[in-house]
Amino acid sequence: MIAPILRSLPELRNATAVWKAAGESIGVVPTMGALHDGHLSLVAAAKKTCDRVIVTIFVNPKQFNNPEDLENYPRTENEDARKLKRFEVDVIYVPSGDVIYPDGFASTVSVSGLTDVMDGVFRPGHFDGVATVVAKLFLQTEATDAFFGEKDFQQLQVVRRMARDLDIPITVHGCPTIREIDGLAMSSRNLLLSDRARVKAPLLNEEMETIAEGVSRGEDFSELQAKALKRLDNAGYTKVDYLEMRANDDLSLLDAPTRPARLFAAAYLAGVRLIDNIAIER
Ligand code: PAJ
Repeated sequence: MIAPILRSLPELRNATAVWKAAGESIGVVPTMGALHDGHLSLVAAAKKTCDRVIVTIFVNPKQFNNPEDLENYPRTENEDARKLKRFEVDVIYVPSGDVIYPDGFASTVSVSGLTDVMDGVFRPGHFDGVATVVAKLFLQTEATDAFFGEKDFQQLQVVRRMARDLDIPITVHGCPTIREIDGLAMSSRNLLLSDRARVKAPLLNEEMETIAEGVSRGEDFSELQAKALKRLDNAGYTKVDYLEMRANDDLSLLDAPTRPARLFAAAYLAGVRLIDNIAIER
């Protein structure tokens, strides 16, 4: 069965009202479409946990700090619906622009602290856009559970904090990053890589693994970082926004894994911005 595609809030609420009256749990998987196995792993987790599952597809203009990036973002709705078929989700929610941002929309949800670093710095306004749209999707769907990928670990922590701060009654589940066989983290933006760039794309994860292994053995982070940056530069990565070790909980910068920590990176390859993060074993 192909799930109904709903585009308006009243249609969505008609469906959820019935489920809520029956006391069913509702899982939401927010996405911007161009679905790949990373997204689908969230759908599988939601199906396992919840009675009902809503997948949302909305390319959110407010979280793009670069108009070209918004324009180039892949849009593959029919293909997405086809990929969701085997999961038997209950609803695919594809709100039109004015369902999310009606005329005169004037509110912003802004999470401080966690957004003062990494993508909060390099993509100004990005997390305000994310927090605002996710708050809306949580309230529109009235979901009991939400599923996010660790691939965007900073986003996951921002969303958790937002839901907690605003008392939105929803459990936010973090799901592991799904990778290609060569280690490249799956991402809709990978579609934008040329064949030549695609060959070099796994190097980012390889270098991160090398650093993580070294740090776990007690080696000096900044030396490992410097070597990795050099190799990325040699391979043709044009700009590394950050390659850092940070604490899982508050994302504070670390030079040794004295608390549960992750490595975070964002780097440009042939004009495409790749991001990744991995846990550091201790
Ligand atoms: P999007 O990039 O489409 O990602 C949707 C969800 O899929 C996010 O929770 C993201 O972390 C997860 N995801 C992406 N790639 C993944 C991978 N390789 N493995 C596991 N999970 C992965 O993130 C967004 O959209 C938007 O910011 C959104 C939350 C929908 C708000 O607009």
